[in-house]
Amino acid sequence: MNAEMTENQALKNAMAATSQAVERTIEPFLAVPSGPEARVVEAMRYAFFSGGKRLRPFLVLASADLFGVDKKQALRVAAAVECVHCYSLIHDDLPAMDDDDVRRGKPTVHKAFDEATAILAGDALMTLAFEILSNEHSHPDPNVRLRLIQELAKASGHHGMVGGQMIDLTADEHALGEADIHRLQQMKTGALISYATEAGAILGHASSQAISSIQGYARDLGLAFQIADDLLDVEGDASEVGKATGKDADAGKATLVSIMGVDRARNQAAILADQAIEHLSSFDDKAALLRAVAHFAIFRRT
Ligand code: IPE
Ligand code: IPE
Ligand code: MG
Ligand code: MG
Ligand code: MG
Repeated sequence: MNAEMTENQALKNAMAATSQAVERTIEPFLAVPSGPEARVVEAMRYAFFSGGKRLRPFLVLASADLFGVDKKQALRVAAAVECVHCYSLIHDDLPAMDDDDVRRGKPTVHKAFDEATAILAGDALMTLAFEILSNEHSHPDPNVRLRLIQELAKASGHHGMVGGQMIDLTADEHALGEADIHRLQQMKTGALISYATEAGAILGHASSQAISSIQGYARDLGLAFQIADDLLDVEGDASEVGKATGKDADAGKATLVSIMGVDRARNQAAILADQAIEHLSSFDDKAALLRAVAHFAIFRRT
């Protein structure tokens, strides 16, 4: 087996293990109650257990591994980040936003349930994330828990994901330049990816130097990842990608692909992935999975 094959296989195995472990971790938090509120929990479960790459949980675990973090703690934080991500997808798909019918190869939550239930399921997944982080099982040191909570709040709110979604909804491709689109993508997608990667370092009391390397890595990875998402919207096969394609152009969405074209955007994503990997130069082989996932982010078909 050549080195590339080994890297791919190791990453594939690690990502599959992450999916399983994160699902086991969230299960007790999503027990279906007996009252009529069961419906919202069914919708939360539908959103959470619908597959997905589990990239953000993977980043938490891979980064936590660098700093010798207890696996159970890292898994709880990984599950919390995935809750916020799933909430963001439910709301992103609503008719008032991207109006999508298919997500992860299945009907979107508002299609499988109804809009009000989808809104509530998103809300409850977001608050569940903070409930999980605030519990002492996530980390015994209350200062670490507070920092995890604070950083997730910033990454998901108007400074981060929600702010990016707002820009995304209000901008068309003629109004935004390259730098504006970088900022949009950094907020809408990059902030949560950065949080996931940094969370492992926060849990592990990493040095500020190590945190700054991790931040540099995550920033470039997040941008590369969103460019790849935009490329999949143009070039991907809807049945493989698990969501409708051609939506960004139809909606006149500003993406790097819309303003640079496919080839330059692909090139830019590759440069960003290489740059991301360079930020990890101070880590040894322990960072192999983080390096591998930077390649995955741009070559993925889904
Ligand atoms: C899709 O995220 C939305 C973006 C932020 C680009 P993912 O591509 O990580 O979606 P799943 O979790 O694998 O379904
Ligand atoms: C969504 O970006 C990002 C968030 C959910 C925060 P997109 O709208 O491009 O994601 P997809 O393509 O629907 O997955
Ligand atoms: Mg969107
Ligand atoms: Mg969308
Ligand atoms: Mg997209």
